[in-house]
Amino acid sequence: MPSTKLGIGFIGSGFNTRFHIRSWVGVRDADVRGVWSPNEKHAEEAAALARSLRVGEAKAFNSIEEMIADPSIDCIWLCGPNHMRIENMEAIVHAVTTGKGQLIGIACEKSLARNVGEAKRVVELVEKSGLLHGYLENQLFTPAIQRGRALIWARGAALTGRPYLARAAEEHSGPHMPWFWQGELQGGGVLNDMMCHSVEVARYLLTEPGKPRASIRPVAVSAQIASLKWSRPEYVERLKQMMGSAVDYAHKPSEDFARATVNYVDEQGHPIIVEATTSWSFVGAGLRLSQELLGPEYSLSINTLDSGLKLFFSREVKGAAGEDLVEKQNAEQGLMPVVANEESEYGYEGENRYFVSCFLEGKQPEESFYDGLEVSKLLMTAYMSAEQRRVIEFPPKDLDAFVPAVARGAWKPST
Ligand SMILES: NC(=O)c1ccc[n+]([C@@H]2O[C@H](COP(=O)([O-])OP(=O)(O)OC[C@H]3O[C@@H](n4cnc5c(N)ncnc54)[C@H](O)[C@@H]3O)[C@@H](O)[C@H]2O)c1
Repeated sequence: MPSTKLGIGFIGSGFNTRFHIRSWVGVRDADVRGVWSPNEKHAEEAAALARSLRVGEAKAFNSIEEMIADPSIDCIWLCGPNHMRIENMEAIVHAVTTGKGQLIGIACEKSLARNVGEAKRVVELVEKSGLLHGYLENQLFTPAIQRGRALIWARGAALTGRPYLARAAEEHSGPHMPWFWQGELQGGGVLNDMMCHSVEVARYLLTEPGKPRASIRPVAVSAQIASLKWSRPEYVERLKQMMGSAVDYAHKPSEDFARATVNYVDEQGHPIIVEATTSWSFVGAGLRLSQELLGPEYSLSINTLDSGLKLFFSREVKGAAGEDLVEKQNAEQGLMPVVANEESEYGYEGENRYFVSCFLEGKQPEESFYDGLEVSKLLMTAYMSAEQRRVIEFPPKDLDAFVPAVARGAWKPST
């Protein structure tokens, strides 16, 4: 086992893995040493990216088992698609428990799984392995959230009382790969895909630093989902052209808008509220993350498109479409915000530094698979509320077996 530098192996070589690898230039004490993905070419490319950035002598492996058996690999970053989570976890845990290799920890991307039943299975597997585990919720680790939360609690809350309302939103114009749009594969629509971030970052802002998650308790959830854009006939066709005929929003739509209110109570029984909104039907400059935290005599607000750097391109600048200014960019002309260091500002760098240091010290991270499971419980309750059009007391019965209509291909958007 290493004492100074960990070796990290990635499962998955897609968009998210590349974000993590780019963030590694700001991470000490660990090298990217491996990538496995069923697409060998992509795994080679991701490994080459790591080598070119000098964040590790990464190589592509032929299987999860082979990667874990390599003594240079100490931890796994699980970044495959949601529908492969259990299969990937079973492969990792089998390799570890049958002595194929030794690991210290696993960090898993959101969503921990597609629903509560699957998330519980993921937790069961990690417990069986005895490994340390981290839930990769990047928004908790953005510099703005870390610093804003610390200052609000140290100044405003310490003198005038705890914050009582947190708002969080994540919005863009739609995901980059077909499986995200397919409810059965992804686990839902935008609610499952992106509200996982919003409910968790809002919960984090409202939790007093140093206190456990249980210091505030969810008691009720109300939510609404809708298909505002992508089931319109012209956009059904456009989506098919972009994502292939399996993404058929005339017959199997997923929601492209969701909002939820989660009612919590604090240790004294006072009400606290989380408002979360997510959308794949937002057309602005690009991805917009926004958060607010409100208390009796103070407030915090963050909007990633209010960036310090803005560029202007006149109509004479007719460059190719790209994603070089901001993630999920929608335009290349006019006044455009630029997120100067996305890997840091979206929290990847901070989260990777945190999980690496926990694993190196042999310490269980505070943001763990148990938090991923809690997030799944809140999201599934939100789907229940949207389907039943009523406020649901938390936790509802039958949560473990609940699979949203969107994820069963059975959702009919109504007006
Ligand atoms: N934190 C964030 O903001 C954020 C952003 C994007 C994605 N994600 C999450 O990261 C994960 C990966 O998303 P992505 O954007 O990279 O998706 P992607 O579709 O771009 O890439 C998925 C990768 O998984 C690989 N893959 C396919 N089958 C696999 C299997 N059986 N086992 C393992 N890997 C397999 C693919 O080859 C590909 O490399 C998802 O769980 C997603 O929800 C998180």
